[in-house]
Amino acid sequence: MEGKVKRVTTRTLAEMKARKEPIAMLTAYDYTFARLLDEAGIDVLLVGDSASNVIAGHETTIPITLDQMIYHGGAVVRAARRAMVVVDMPFGSYQGDSKAALHAAIRIMKESGAHAVKLEGGEAVVESVRRIVSAGIPVMGHLGLTPQSIYQFGGYRVRAKEPPEAEKLRRDAQLLAAAGAFALVLEKIPAPLAQEVTESLPIPTIGIGAGPYCDGQVLVLHDMLGLNKEFSPRFLRRYADLATVVKEACTRYVQDVKQRDFPSLVESYE
Ligand code: KIV
Repeated sequence: MEGKVKRVTTRTLAEMKARKEPIAMLTAYDYTFARLLDEAGIDVLLVGDSASNVIAGHETTIPITLDQMIYHGGAVVRAARRAMVVVDMPFGSYQGDSKAALHAAIRIMKESGAHAVKLEGGEAVVESVRRIVSAGIPVMGHLGLTPQSIYQFGGYRVRAKEPPEAEKLRRDAQLLAAAGAFALVLEKIPAPLAQEVTESLPIPTIGIGAGPYCDGQVLVLHDMLGLNKEFSPRFLRRYADLATVVKEACTRYVQDVKQRDFPSLVESYE
């Protein structure tokens, strides 16, 4: 019988920050990959709303729904024995109305079994963060390039390069921590700013395109596995070329079927 594995919790992450042990987070959207990632030792599985892009093929993260996030969240939760599972709150489920935000967060926790939720933004969402946290639900924040605001930004450029936006980010980070967020994703901001925020915050920061000084790192699974060759930002390190592996395997399968080489009699029943 397999032994019980100790689950990564918000407390584990706080302890990791304290002892300067980097946190490894990756996105996951389905049972099969999540099981592999969990076995590989990933600390946090983020059911990102990037599912809207890499799973559903939308151009942005905006169209994905709460029901769809719950569906992906449940699949990942069923696979994760050790990793903490964080589910993104989709666009429209938390902005503007903190009661609606709490309702959406409760649905994610009850229906997917996730261990925490993540939402994007600073001061404008602090009331929602406070309300969700006060219901006992851990919240991860997300600042810098927040993809749900892509039409406001007008592109995927590095954020907070100019002093006013950097100053706002510093302030938003403090506000989120004060509202009870347990961790903060910093996306596509200058490394020195990410370092400063990381050192000034009591909670762990997890960077994507934010340099080496964050308390942890996150990448989108399909990008780091080389499944998505069109996306090549500077911050992306590819750990595999699965697009080639998958295409070669499928091309060989097509040939075998067409040539009646598959299945053989050994692969058939009498
Ligand atoms: O949805 C997502 O994949 C994310 C990561 C980029 C942090 O939010």
